[in-house]
Amino acid sequence: MSEWVLILGGSTGHGAATAKRLAQDGYGIIAFHFDRGDAKKVALKTIAEVNEITKGRCHYFNTNAASEKAIDEYIPEIKKITKEKPLKLLLHSIAFGTTTNFFGEKPVTQRQMDMTIHVMGNALLYWTQKLHESELLGNGSRILGLTSEGNYLAMEGYGPVSVAKVAMEAIIRQIGWELGQFGITANAVQAGVTPTRALTKITDNWELWVENTKKRNPMRRTTTPEDIAGTISMLLKPDADFINCSIIYCDGGESRSGIL
Ligand SMILES: NC(=O)c1ccc[n+]([C@@H]2O[C@H](COP(=O)([O-])OP(=O)(O)OC[C@H]3O[C@@H](n4cnc5c(N)ncnc54)[C@H](O)[C@@H]3O)[C@@H](O)[C@H]2O)c1
Repeated sequence: MSEWVLILGGSTGHGAATAKRLAQDGYGIIAFHFDRGDAKKVALKTIAEVNEITKGRCHYFNTNAASEKAIDEYIPEIKKITKEKPLKLLLHSIAFGTTTNFFGEKPVTQRQMDMTIHVMGNALLYWTQKLHESELLGNGSRILGLTSEGNYLAMEGYGPVSVAKVAMEAIIRQIGWELGQFGITANAVQAGVTPTRALTKITDNWELWVENTKKRNPMRRTTTPEDIAGTISMLLKPDADFINCSIIYCDGGESRSGIL
């Protein structure tokens, strides 16, 4: 099995923490991000850190990883990097969508719905199809996506992302069902509320969310990107070979605790 992992959305938040953790575990990191302005400065810091940990076994691409053109353009490059060996992991950790309600002052449009579901849901399928076609997935490869409690709860501004999460979970289930026979597994990791850049974009009240989550969470804190990175690191071990088509919760029990 190859020593390389592919992270879609690897510059900040969960994706960045996972890149650093897997770099420490000894994997080479191939990652996409899509950052401009201040976000780009944070991205450059992450890239420098990953570069240092991996001693240069790291390739970051700043482009829209959800476009068909990017998938087609970069797969040959990824093949060159891994020397045609399958990837250990394809992780979808992209946060890019419209956060608005269905009704009211700024009702979501069809274009915004389509874009959000594509980037945060369907894009994982198209990446997986093309990596599989290119023999970049093999026995022991993992497909992972990040989901949230929004997969079954309605929340302020979260409607479009919520639909994308449900789509992603269905996609993961089906990928695992179809590719399990090749030893390739697909699972979702459900993170609790995590103070990242993406969270600040969901609602102006995100700080209140964080405070309420700390009270509601049985472990009295919010999830950290490092919690998720640790879970993903565990899921890459051979002991996790038989975990497939599942949702793994890494939220301190938050989703089992009543809403305040
Ligand atoms: N933060 C939370 O509370 C929380 C909870 C559960 C699940 N999640 C999920 O975790 C995932 C990561 O979110 P995060 O909180 O770490 O957010 P984040 O904003 O810190 O990270 C998002 C990453 O996606 C990248 N990105 C955005 N659009 C892209 C595109 N078109 N192509 C390539 N890269 C792109 C960014 O560059 C960045 O690396 C998302 O799917 C999010 O829904 C987050």
